[in-house]
Amino acid sequence: MCGIVGYLGSNQAAPVLLSKLRVLEYRGYDSAGVAVIEAGRLNVIKAAGKLSNLETLLQSQRPQATVGIGHTRWATHGTPNDLNAHPHISANGTLAIVHNGIIENYADLRQELTDRGYVFVSDTDTEVVAHLLSREMDKGADLLGAILQVVKQIKGAYALGIVSQNQPDRIYAVNHHYSLTVGMGENESFLASDSTAVRQYTNKIIRLEQSEIAEITAHSVRLFDFAGKESTREPVSLESDPYKIDKSGFKHFLLKEIHEQPLVLRQTLSKYMTGAEDPINFNVEHFKPTGNGANDKMGLYGVRLTENEIKGIERIHIVACGTAYHAALIGKCIIEELCSLPVDVEIASEIRGRKLLVNERTLTVAVSQSGETADTLAAIKEAKKKGSYTLGITNRPDSHLAQITENLIVTECGIEVSVAATKTYVAQLACFYLLGIYLAEQRGAVSKAKLKELKGGLLQMPALIEQILGRAEDYRQESLKLADANDVVFIGRGFNFPTALEGALKLKELSYIHASGYAAGELKHGPIAVLDSTVPVITVLVPGKVYEKTLSNAQESRARQARMVAVAVDGDEKAPKTFEHIFRIPPVDEFFSPIPACVPMQLMSYYVADFLGKDVDQPRNLAKSVTVE
Ligand code: M6R
Repeated sequence: MCGIVGYLGSNQAAPVLLSKLRVLEYRGYDSAGVAVIEAGRLNVIKAAGKLSNLETLLQSQRPQATVGIGHTRWATHGTPNDLNAHPHISANGTLAIVHNGIIENYADLRQELTDRGYVFVSDTDTEVVAHLLSREMDKGADLLGAILQVVKQIKGAYALGIVSQNQPDRIYAVNHHYSLTVGMGENESFLASDSTAVRQYTNKIIRLEQSEIAEITAHSVRLFDFAGKESTREPVSLESDPYKIDKSGFKHFLLKEIHEQPLVLRQTLSKYMTGAEDPINFNVEHFKPTGNGANDKMGLYGVRLTENEIKGIERIHIVACGTAYHAALIGKCIIEELCSLPVDVEIASEIRGRKLLVNERTLTVAVSQSGETADTLAAIKEAKKKGSYTLGITNRPDSHLAQITENLIVTECGIEVSVAATKTYVAQLACFYLLGIYLAEQRGAVSKAKLKELKGGLLQMPALIEQILGRAEDYRQESLKLADANDVVFIGRGFNFPTALEGALKLKELSYIHASGYAAGELKHGPIAVLDSTVPVITVLVPGKVYEKTLSNAQESRARQARMVAVAVDGDEKAPKTFEHIFRIPPVDEFFSPIPACVPMQLMSYYVADFLGKDVDQPRNLAKSVTVE
């Protein structure tokens, strides 16, 4: 949430900052700005709205500078306008700062500064920090000294980038429970909230630790803790990334990412399921998911729990937000089914202020695509404090979550650019199947024959999704018939209740059409009141234990004249008697059905949103990485 960038070297800073901001725009797109030191003077250029507005300004003003910082904003304090855009300038006009996170005590500090004559031009919490730095410098401190004083005064989790015209050969970065990466090139240095924005220029990076300050020049990085004690750390190398950040001919990143799902499943499964000849350097192009590996023990590299520790686990607690929460709800169904272990799933933000009942016999799993979601991080830290084992499932092995969990499973998706999660959701589901099978294997909870069947079934999923994607044009035509709806209801049972929740979330965030997901059996307890002939009810209906009951619940909707839509398997002959529109998927076992069933819904949301002219890759009011609580 919000992106920070910085540059020092011998090249023009503005184009470098802009290209790095482009990579980080997914973190927020309410406004963007840069501060550069041009001919010894601070020059701040910023604009509300998308990055393209800043780009236009930079093209006309062409600032000549080789040092600067930049920011792309997701508004927390103050509406998204030019004044509230970052960078913010200190009262003495000599330094500029960019900020991610929230200064929790900003209101008190702002009052105190206002009482002493400081004038605020924005409504942000950030400007408080700029003025505090200025005040310390007026007392005689240099910039580093001022930063050390100010971090004692501000509360909250934050990351800062700071540049001063009095010390134009350096920028400062401050990380407090956030993420910041310094990239080190040949006589040039980079700063970014996310290593992806550094990767374009160098693969040598230093990740700032918690409560750490970096003094960055074009040739060096000095690190200090908040007490001013200096430390050293060698840069590490970033691994290469097989995914290209371009649309590869698709109209939107979202559509490309939906189509990448077979690939990400193959990547993720091949990494963790041995039996693929070389699970690490696996050639995905040649991966034939025909049940290879079904006889072998799985290698969940990154899960360090011993067999005895796994056997000693009495309860699993999963925390996550948004789409990751929906994946977690399916994870509960999988693990309970295979391991007969009780699993609780909680929306991570709901744990604050409540008693967290975990202990040293609990495994707490945090699921987060970004690995930076503040609510999820807070929850897993709390669980760790209580002695629980911790496991992270994330797409970002370089994230904060990956650093703080003892056990880790990485979804092999490459960068997901579109703000709405699609491929990472499917990969999170794959990780829960892998985890469920792994725990069952270690605990001896299922027979060898069953394990083989499960692994074989999981390996069929990439090809199944390929078949579904081959039907995209049929789905498009069916989807457009729903584009006039104002309210849409999604229902499912058991393994597919979370599929319904995810379907509703995707439609809402992409098309802005109001949608709700319900457990199909719950509809009659109240939500059925909203149904009439204008409301589509989309039912996830796959053969299995809850097929008949789900169909009955759908019929209750039909009796209220709702517009009847289903995701149903090929050959389901009952479905056409109840539903007007059917998104057909190939036959699939109920247990694995959440993987294929979500795909027609993703495509439906995409087609409706695109038809309505919505900003598919960057829906209004959202940010990819939600780093505030
Ligand atoms: O990075 P995380 O997986 O922790 O993000 C959690 C949610 O913010 C995220 O899934 C969000 O709901 C997406 N917009 C869903 O498309």
